[in-house]
Amino acid sequence: MICRRRILKLLYVLFFFVSCAVVYNSYTKKQTQAPYCLGTRKQPWLPPDVCQDIKNTIAISEVKKFNPDELIEQVEDLQSCQWTGNATALRAVRSELHKCCDAVRNLLVTQENTHIGDNITYETQKHKHIEVTEEIHKMFPKTSLFSNKPIRSCVVVGNGGILLNSCCGSEIDQADYVFRFNLPPMNFANDTGTKTNLVTANPSIVTERYARLHERRRPFMDLVKTFEPAPILMAAFSYPSTTDVIFKVFYTLEEFGSKQAVIYFHPNYLTNLGLYWKTKGLAGQHISSGFIIVSMALEICDKVTLYGFWPFDEDTDGNPIPHHYYDNRLPKLGIHSMPSEFFFYSQMHSKGILKLKVGRCF
Ligand SMILES: *[C@@H]1O[C@H](CO)[C@@H](O)[C@H](O)[C@H]1NC(C)=O
Ligand SMILES: *[C@@H]1O[C@H](CO)[C@@H](O)[C@H](O)[C@H]1NC(C)=O
Ligand SMILES: *[C@@H]1O[C@H](CO)[C@@H](O)[C@H](O)[C@H]1NC(C)=O
Repeated sequence: MICRRRILKLLYVLFFFVSCAVVYNSYTKKQTQAPYCLGTRKQPWLPPDVCQDIKNTIAISEVKKFNPDELIEQVEDLQSCQWTGNATALRAVRSELHKCCDAVRNLLVTQENTHIGDNITYETQKHKHIEVTEEIHKMFPKTSLFSNKPIRSCVVVGNGGILLNSCCGSEIDQADYVFRFNLPPMNFANDTGTKTNLVTANPSIVTERYARLHERRRPFMDLVKTFEPAPILMAAFSYPSTTDVIFKVFYTLEEFGSKQAVIYFHPNYLTNLGLYWKTKGLAGQHISSGFIIVSMALEICDKVTLYGFWPFDEDTDGNPIPHHYYDNRLPKLGIHSMPSEFFFYSQMHSKGILKLKVGRCF
């Protein structure tokens, strides 16, 4: 009898603590959200058969024939549909990408895949190459960043203005691995999260904003630190004219004793990936770094979610949005074909290969 009462008492105490923990948890979760993030979802969900129709329409359409205005509307509608992954479809894409490009082994120039005395051929100028001296070889990482074992969940954070006021930060931070582009400002935590595992940098940022690192370099290091501990990924062997400034980034991080690495895209990987997507109908001059990283993520992650990819100047409610979540500088025309790349993202979303998130995260 006494024993039973004791157990009951114990259960009460346990129950008390568990409910306290639950209440505390939801309270702190609310506390870490900015006030504008505390709303609730307004749009109703669409019926499953309507959703399936939209997905089927996108899945069978072709990149050469799609109508951007129609696609915008369809993708907006899909945000009110349940997304379901299709492991079979992902496996098929992964195996194709593995065959053409093999990101695990070839994404980066490493000491494993490149030896002293080798010549690295430039991606955009095949008649130019750089000889790998002992000094240059030392600047390469020993091995690939990735093992053959897939990462469970990856998030690729584009820099699109659609992220502004999205409140997607906490969702982004829950991923195992977060990719970002071109050293973006990190002071938008509620919208973009705080975590980074890999960040790319275009040489133009170093040239234009940091005087090619010929002057004071601490401001650049302060920027790099906001991505700790992520390595900085740069295309050192795409254009001969930018190799110097990219090596300068390496020297600067080394001189400042940074624990972050500078790593380099392998030009052959970029060439092969470009050819692969060309066979799929992507005719743009050069695929964007966003498209490169998404392709790579499909090879190494079991789940890929995209945020901040929306190459249009209005949000899903028709309100004007800036080009980036942090500024409204427009890209140079004619370099990438963002709407075509976006077509592929939405097609892969429809087929359950990746999840494309646009709009707000509640
Ligand atoms: C969101 O912003 C609030 C301030 O408005 C801040 O206290 C909180 O830490 C931020 N949350 C995240 C996840 O960054
Ligand atoms: C998943 O993808 C495979 C291959 O693309 C396809 O045959 C199958 O019908 C899809 N499954 C569902 C539930 O959509
Ligand atoms: C690399 O290129 C140089 C010419 O610049 C050539 O002499 C050398 O044989 C090449 N090395 C290899 C391994 O192809």
